[in-house]
Amino acid sequence: MDTHSWDEMYRSRERVFSGAPHAVLVAEAAALPPGRALDVGCGEGADASWPAGRGWQVTAVDIAPTALQRAAAAAPDTAGHVVWTRADLTAAPPPAGAFDLVSVHYFPLRYQPERLPVAPGPVEVVGLDGRRHVLRYRLWRAPTGISVRLVEECEGADDGFEFAVFSDHDADVDELAVRVRAEAEAEIARCYVEPALQGAGWRLTGEEIAGRLIADLEGGPVRVVVDGRTLSWDELGEALASYEGWRFRLAIDASLTDVRSDAAKAQ
Ligand SMILES: C[S@@+](CC[C@H](N)C(=O)[O-])C[C@H]1O[C@@H](n2cnc3c(N)ncnc32)[C@H](O)[C@@H]1O
Repeated sequence: MDTHSWDEMYRSRERVFSGAPHAVLVAEAAALPPGRALDVGCGEGADASWPAGRGWQVTAVDIAPTALQRAAAAAPDTAGHVVWTRADLTAAPPPAGAFDLVSVHYFPLRYQPERLPVAPGPVEVVGLDGRRHVLRYRLWRAPTGISVRLVEECEGADDGFEFAVFSDHDADVDELAVRVRAEAEAEIARCYVEPALQGAGWRLTGEEIAGRLIADLEGGPVRVVVDGRTLSWDELGEALASYEGWRFRLAIDASLTDVRSDAAKAQ
């Protein structure tokens, strides 16, 4: 939205916001000694007037003239403590380090996808059963970190191996790529199922089976990808049939290795 749209938004209503300071601001700043404060996109001014009333020297910035007029009119007693300033903060950012407190509530910022490093080229791994798997890297930055995935692109929509490592934003992507590749090579170098002796179907090669689940969002049955191929729940059940009478443990664990720092995980 531009200046005109924001101003129209204010002019279309007698009052837009409650007039009370945000609870987060009050909780964070109530015990701070007064200093210089900036309120970004101050709107009708409650988050600027509140610290001004507590002795702060406040610069309150907004793009909408109507909001600023209302803000100044609503708090005449703080006049000496607030400078109501009309500016476009995305065009002219405030000076770094000039304020002891910066409050930003619901300020619209244009979404700018972060530039990611170029992903390494594809990886080819040959499985124990001789099948050749080509996996491609996919990098993705989430709000909580960066993920490096290796995904097998198969003709069958669901088939294929998939591995992922998730780490801190500043992690070395090349190192994560090596790590996820090592995971892929180790996993593809083992087989959990092999063709059943008679007829169609599969049987377990050992006592363990691992894979990834695929939920059908349209309500169909869950499927499982084992050794990079999709098995139906029935096929999985048949593969387990020779263990009849045994107790079994079904483990569902994360498909992504989370190597973020403890601080990042705690956020
Ligand atoms: C959703 S309102 C929030 C107002 C206030 N912070 C609050 O929480 O009550 C966003 C405010 O940012 C202002 N604004 C939008 N873009 C701006 C820009 N580029 N520079 C300065 N202010 C802007 C709008 O005019 C509006 O008052």
